[in-house]
Amino acid sequence: MAHEVTSTGPVNIAVIKYWGKRDTELILPTNSSISITLSQDQLRSKTTIRASPNFTKTRLWLNGVEELNLDNNVRLQNCLRATMKLRKEYEDQLSDEIGIDNVQPISSYKLHICSENNFPTAAGLASSASGFACLVYTLSQLYELPISTTELSKIARQGSGSACRSLFGGFVNWQMGTKQDGSDSQALQIAPHDHWPELEALICVVSDAKKGTSSTEGMQNTVKTSTLLQHRINNVVPERMKLMIDAINRKDFNKFAELTMKDSNQFHACCLDTFPPIFYLNDVSRAIIRVITEYNNTTGKPDEFKAAYTFDAGPNAVIYALKQNIPEIINLISKYFPPSQNNVTYFSNPYNLFSNEKENI
Ligand code: DP6
Repeated sequence: MAHEVTSTGPVNIAVIKYWGKRDTELILPTNSSISITLSQDQLRSKTTIRASPNFTKTRLWLNGVEELNLDNNVRLQNCLRATMKLRKEYEDQLSDEIGIDNVQPISSYKLHICSENNFPTAAGLASSASGFACLVYTLSQLYELPISTTELSKIARQGSGSACRSLFGGFVNWQMGTKQDGSDSQALQIAPHDHWPELEALICVVSDAKKGTSSTEGMQNTVKTSTLLQHRINNVVPERMKLMIDAINRKDFNKFAELTMKDSNQFHACCLDTFPPIFYLNDVSRAIIRVITEYNNTTGKPDEFKAAYTFDAGPNAVIYALKQNIPEIINLISKYFPPSQNNVTYFSNPYNLFSNEKENI
C-alpha cells in the first residue's frame, strides 16, 4: 500500500536576525533569533510526499519541473534520515505493542516528493524556511511521528536554519542553545498569532531575482571576517532578545519597531563589514528606509513609531505596522514606488496553520 500526504507551510520574517553558524553541518547558529510567521494566503510552500514499496529510488521535484540530485544534498539527506530513524523506532515500538504483521514498514519505502512555492524561490523571501518546514512537517505526518513541534524544529533546522521557526505560528523564538550536538537549539512559540491581531505585515517586492550571495555562503564569510558580528553576538543580541520578547508580550509597538529596525540595520552593517562586503540592499531598499523614517518623524517624538522596516538577505522590504496605519503606508509606498515598477503585497495578521491532506492508496 502506498501512502501520500500533502501539506502547506508558511514563511517567517525575522525581527531579530539569524546570521552566522557555529556548526555548519548541524546548522547551529551563533545567536538566537525571533520571527513572525506570516499568513499562508499569499506566500506558502506546498509539499506532497508519497511512500511506496514499489519505488526504487527517493526522488524530489522542485516547482513542478526541476528534479534535484539528492546524492550531494546533505541538508535534505539529514532531514530524511532523521525522520526515517524516528519512524523506524516508532515501528519497532508498535510491533512490540500490536505485532509486526500489523505495522506498515513505511520507513523502508522510497519516497517521491513534490515541493513548490507560490512565490519566487531564493529571492530573499524565505523560501528555504517555508520549504524545509513544510517538508519536515509533511514527513512527520506521513510517518505519523509522535513528537512535539519543538522536537520537529530541530530536524527542520538541519534543512535550513530559519525553517525551524516556520513550524510555529505567531511569534517564535529560535533559542541558539549551547550543546555541541544541537539538542537544545530549537524553536519555541513566544505567543500565538491571535495574541496581537492589530500587528500586520506589508511585503514590498523590490526584486524577485535570485539573490547574488546565498544566505548560507554569505553568513559564513561574515563569521570569518566581520569583527562587528562578534560584537553583535556577544554584546547586542542577548539583551535585544529579552527586550523583544518583552515588547511582544506587552504588545508595545514603539519598542518592537525600534528593535526591529535597529536589528535589520545591524545585520546589513555586518554584511558591509564582511570582507569582501556583501550588499543585499539596493537603491530602492534604501529609499524605502528613508520614506519610513520620514513617516515615523511625523509622530514628532523620537521614540514613537508608526512603521518598522526589516530586510533579509535581499532587497525586498517587509514593513510591520499596526492595522490602522496600513492604508496610509500603502498610499505612501505606492506614491513613491508606483506599482508598475514595484509590486507591493499586503498581508493580513501574522498567522500560521499547516493544512494537511492525507491519503492511503
Ligand atoms: C537573513 O535560514 O536561509 O533571513 O541556515 O544557511 O539555510 P541557512 O540560512 P537561512 O538564513 C536566513 C537569514 C536571514 C535572517 C533570518 O531569517 O533570521
